[in-house]
Amino acid sequence: MAGERKVRLHVNVDHVATVRQARGTRYPDPVAAAVLCELAGADGITVHLREDRRHIQDRDVRLLRQTVQTLLNLEMAATDEMVSIAREVRPDVVTLVPERREERTTEGGLDAAGGRARGLAAQVQALRQAGLRVSLFIAPDAAQVAAAAALGADTVELHTGEYCEAGAAAGTGAGTGAGTGAGTGARLAAELARLQSAATAAAAAGLHVAAGHGLNVHNVGPVAALLEVEELNIGHALVADAVLVGLERAVRDMIAAMAAARRS
Ligand code: PXP
Repeated sequence: MAGERKVRLHVNVDHVATVRQARGTRYPDPVAAAVLCELAGADGITVHLREDRRHIQDRDVRLLRQTVQTLLNLEMAATDEMVSIAREVRPDVVTLVPERREERTTEGGLDAAGGRARGLAAQVQALRQAGLRVSLFIAPDAAQVAAAAALGADTVELHTGEYCEAGAAAGTGAGTGAGTGAGTGARLAAELARLQSAATAAAAAGLHVAAGHGLNVHNVGPVAALLEVEELNIGHALVADAVLVGLERAVRDMIAAMAAARRS
């Protein structure tokens, strides 16, 4: 039964590299962080090789391919350069994400259903022809789910950013930012319902369902409890917690929060 399966945690170690790049040092090394995450029980390691190489470097991806024992998920823009790197490195999963240089982090989902979908289709096909599994990072909307299925994706990763923002606005302490306390929680419930219906539609279309962006130990529960969600990609909050309590404990606490939500 879907509900009895655990939710897998893929830890995004980008921000370990962010600290390294801030000083141009050799430390902290995301490759070392990945080992600790796996020892703490993570089911996979995720990295985003951005076009501007602001955190993860090509060297990191190549070394991680050799060292990761679980699963390597490479997030990247759907460009020729990145497709060529993916075909060479051969991660276990490629997650295509939209990318704008001026953004602080990935801001929206891919427009799988929109005007630029033809270029996306070619990149998905190139990756699949190379035998790589493809995930598309999309907004939790029925049209995007249907478009992702039509493009031949194996997995959709549902963008949880708006759910997390709604939590912050509702002042639940469960968002990514500082809560204003002004919200009623109605938007939070609506965002969760949106995730639920997109997850249901994706599973019905035969897609694997992942989710992520902005999740932390406080807001992860309701998303982890969605029975169709098989995997969560979590980065910033885990690295932030690791600064205070250590990486292993941060990962273990997240796994416990996810498991508790699935049991309740
Ligand atoms: N999933 C995708 C597709 C992302 O781009 C990111 C951010 O790199 C994440 C998950 C993780 O988001 P966060 O760092 O907010 O946990």
